[in-house]
Amino acid sequence: MKTSLLFNAMIIGGSLFLSAGSGMAGDDNGAKSIVLKGGGMGSITFPHAVHQGIFVDCKPCHDLFPKESQVVDKLKTEGKLPKKNVMNMCTKCHKDLAGKDQKTGPTRCMDCHKK
Ligand code: HEC
Ligand code: HEC
Ligand code: HEC
Repeated sequence: MKTSLLFNAMIIGGSLFLSAGSGMAGDDNGAKSIVLKGGGMGSITFPHAVHQGIFVDCKPCHDLFPKESQVVDKLKTEGKLPKKNVMNMCTKCHKDLAGKDQKTGPTRCMDCHKK
C-alpha cells in the first residue's frame, strides 16, 4: 500500500512538471487529463487537452469556474456552484453536436462516470 501511494505521487508529480513546462511557452493550459469527482456515480476522466484542441477559447467551461485544479469540487462543497451544473454544461454541448451529426463526446451516464 505504501509503495503504491508513493508510485502514484511520482506520476502526479511528473504530470504537474510537464504541464508547468508547457505553460512556459505561453498560457498555462493545465493538465492534459483531469479526474473530476462525480459523487456516488463515480469519477469522470476528462480529456482536457482534447477539448482545448477543438475550441479556440476556454469557454464555456472557464466561464463557470476558474482555471484551478480541483476547483469544481471545492466550489460545490462551498455551495457556490450547484451540483451537476458543470455536468449539464458538458452534456448540453455533446447533445447539441450529436443533434447536428457532428463529432461529439459521451451523453450516457456510464460513458463518463466510472466506478
Ligand atoms: C470543455 C471544458 C474545458 C475547456 C474548453 C477548457 N478547460 Fe481548463 N479545465 C476544465 C476542467 C474541468 C478543469 C478542472 C477543474 C477541477 O479540477 O475542478 C480545468 C482546469 C484547468 C486549469 C487548472 C490546472 C489543471 O490542470 O487542473 C488550467 C490552467 C486550465 N484549465 C486552462 C485552460 C485553458 C488555458 C483553456 C483554453 C485554451 C481551457 N482550460 C479550456 C475544463 C475545460
Ligand atoms: C459528459 C460527461 C457526463 C455524463 C454523460 C454524465 N455526467 Fe454526471 N457528472 C459529470 C461531471 C463532470 C460531474 C461533476 C461536476 C458537477 O457536479 O456538475 C458529474 C456529477 C454527477 C453527480 C454528482 C453530483 C453531486 O455532486 O452530488 C451525479 C449524481 C451525476 N453526475 C449523475 C449522472 C447521471 C444519472 C447521468 C446520466 C443521466 C450522468 N451523470 C451523465 C459528467 C457527466
Ligand atoms: C462546447 C462543447 C463541449 C463541451 C462544453 C464539453 N465537450 Fe466533451 N467533447 C466535445 C467534442 C466535440 C468531443 C469529441 C472530440 C473528438 O472525438 O475529437 C468531446 C469528447 C469528449 C469525451 C471523449 C473523448 C475521447 O477521446 O473519446 C469525453 C470523455 C468528454 N468529451 C467529456 C466532457 C466533460 C466531462 C465535459 C465537461 C467538463 C465536456 N466533455 C465538455 C465537446 C464538448
